[in-house]
Amino acid sequence: MLKPSLLSVSILLGLGAAVVSAQSYGVGRPASAEEVAAWDVTIGPEGHELPEGSGTAKDGAQVYEVRCKECHGEEGVGGDHAALIGNPEQLKETPPVKTVGSYWPYATTLFDYTRRAMPFEEPGTLTADQVYAVTAYVLYLNGLVGEDDVLDRESLPQVVMPNRDGFVRDPR
Ligand code: HEC
Repeated sequence: MLKPSLLSVSILLGLGAAVVSAQSYGVGRPASAEEVAAWDVTIGPEGHELPEGSGTAKDGAQVYEVRCKECHGEEGVGGDHAALIGNPEQLKETPPVKTVGSYWPYATTLFDYTRRAMPFEEPGTLTADQVYAVTAYVLYLNGLVGEDDVLDRESLPQVVMPNRDGFVRDPR
């Protein structure tokens, strides 16, 4: 019988061989540029990766009405799911109330999150303009931008969230 150490070495070798043979026998295929692009949507705090497009809170109110309200409630509160409106005073409550307005440090994260994850049952179905617009609307409801302010890749990163200084950037 094989000793455990030898056994694990042979399992590892076996797995390695399986990977190599999968490649040599044409199983699977490299992801296409479009497939990689569809997943490569992460936006950092400074928003360098933000796409072209723009929107105002006025435009976003319509997107919100049709695509968000059923879960997040009238004007971002009172729905079955997370409230989207708040202010940093709520972080002093027990337990702290964490919302976009009270807790999130970067407006760019709201764009990123909405684009990749919302609407909850149909993620990825909003255009860049719609995401800019509904992001503007949620920020407007939080009192952070005006109704007609145009948000785009230049202006969105400049919106200062109330809790921006509540976080410390990881220096690594
Ligand atoms: C079918 C229900 C549904 C719809 C529609 C929906 N959401 Fe959500 N949303 C959720 C759920 C579920 C979560 C996860 C947090 C929770 O459990 O409440 C969430 C979380 C969020 C969060 C994070 C909140 C936080 O502080 O953690 C944001 C922002 C958000 N949604 C924005 C939107 C926007 C903008 C739309 C419309 C484009 C939208 N959602 C549509 C269900 C929904």
